[in-house]
Amino acid sequence: MFQHDIPAPFLLGTLDMQRHHAEAIFERAERIERQFAGLRTSELFQELAGKTVVNLFYENSTRTRTSFEIAAKRLGAMVINMDVATSSVGKGETLLDTAATLNAMQPDFLVIRHPFAGAPKLLARKVQASVINGGDGTHEHPTQALLDAYTMRKHLGKDLSNRVIVIAGDIRHSRVARSNIWLLTRLGARVRVVAPPTLLPGEMGQFGVDLFYDMRKAVEGADVVMMLRLQRERMQGVFLPSQSEYFRYFGLSDTVLARAKPHALVMHPGPMNRGVEIETSVADLEGRSVIEEQVHMGVITRMAIFSVLAEQRRLVAENRSEELMA
Ligand code: CP
Repeated sequence: MFQHDIPAPFLLGTLDMQRHHAEAIFERAERIERQFAGLRTSELFQELAGKTVVNLFYENSTRTRTSFEIAAKRLGAMVINMDVATSSVGKGETLLDTAATLNAMQPDFLVIRHPFAGAPKLLARKVQASVINGGDGTHEHPTQALLDAYTMRKHLGKDLSNRVIVIAGDIRHSRVARSNIWLLTRLGARVRVVAPPTLLPGEMGQFGVDLFYDMRKAVEGADVVMMLRLQRERMQGVFLPSQSEYFRYFGLSDTVLARAKPHALVMHPGPMNRGVEIETSVADLEGRSVIEEQVHMGVITRMAIFSVLAEQRRLVAENRSEELMA
């Protein structure tokens, strides 16, 4: 979260995130949740009072953008949602020129979602703000992985070691899958990924996960089944014979879920396509589906991320970088 060649503390991905960095965010989220439980909704934290957060989303978003905005406002920050469609990006301004322009306005945090892998890192090298990756292409979506793991910890206990977590669906095009794989394996979980061969590149095996091409076998004895949507906007070519066949072999139905542990959690980062990757009865299964809880935990986890980064920014400003976690 801090590197000497990047001006400010950042959150760019889970690939390079140490376990203790993730644990620090979870602990901060627990503290925020405890404090939040004792507050009326009209009361706000003041941790980011006087700070400015810019949301810079070059791709559509419902959950991520809104929850970053709510998280920042609950911490007392001023939030600017840049409308990329009506900004000078439409006149051909490059990402780096946009970065230089925003940098001149001296925001404290920049949350970026961009279709190109690596765009947040490029930005982070150019601005004084702390850059948070809200999703870059098929590469990473680290805050989604952190909120997913935080949600799992609430139900399965803080230690996810040896928990069997199945990630099913369009692994090839999924940044959520990559960030979750890198984080969950670092937390000691046993991750299984399952998809048709066209959507599950063999090289995913190098990340310490077990590859499955049979949904029923993958789900056997699982603690968590996380479903992913087909990312049609990223597909170039034909990856599936038909949608109905996809659901038949790789969709999550009651019958398939019955192979998991009796209390296995059903998760989905959203947006969800009912009847394509998940049956409605499973998506809404009381006591098992935590899909809405994931959204709630998204706000808490993003508050924790802002809080941890704000603390790191204070240490850097006071020339106390050596106190930052290695
Ligand atoms: N999970 C997620 O990234 O959702 P949005 O695309 O709605 O932000």
